[in-house]
Amino acid sequence: MLDTMTATKIVGALCGAMLVLLLGKWAAESIYHVGPIGHGDDHGAVPIFADIAEDQLDTPVEEVVDILTLLASADIAKGAKVFAKCKACHKVEESTNGVGPHLVGIVGRQIGIIDEFKYSNPMADLEGVWDPEQLAAFLANPKKYLPGTKMSFVGLKKPKDRANIIAWMQSLQ
Ligand code: HEC
Repeated sequence: MLDTMTATKIVGALCGAMLVLLLGKWAAESIYHVGPIGHGDDHGAVPIFADIAEDQLDTPVEEVVDILTLLASADIAKGAKVFAKCKACHKVEESTNGVGPHLVGIVGRQIGIIDEFKYSNPMADLEGVWDPEQLAAFLANPKKYLPGTKMSFVGLKKPKDRANIIAWMQSLQ
């Protein structure tokens, strides 16, 4: 026959053990829920990731990706290749204008400064210099950045292409 003390201890020990088990199960489930998508059949994590993706869709790409950060690890050789898309209209290694103004010293150059080139009014009126931020924003989508520009170019959609070409143009200076 168990005395009251021993009975209490046994019940206490059992409760403790159950508590440990429950806590362990809860902890395991919490970890499981924030784990990567695609593991197991529990879709608990999906709504969390879907929320983040939705938020990012609302924000323009230019704001999500910091050009200066990308420039720090830009690939100059790749940038030279991206320039193939500009070649039909621009020269960057000699000061000769084509369909577009020459781009010698373009990184840091004042906007619309080439005298012999007839700029559109919006570009002629645009103030400032072509620093990496301004160049990246313009090259991403010229017509959207500067409505009325006569640069007929769809834009460089990939932030890395923009960073690489800016780094390459800068390397020529
Ligand atoms: C179809 C021809 C064409 C293509 C392709 C093109 N551009 Fe242009 N670009 C122009 C014209 C035209 C202007 C002048 C725009 C204006 O006056 O509104 C211009 C202006 C610019 C300017 C401003 C220059 C200044 O003096 O302020 C930069 C920078 C520039 N382009 C970079 C590029 C780069 C880099 C590429 C390739 C990724 C490119 N462009 C592709 C025609 C082109």
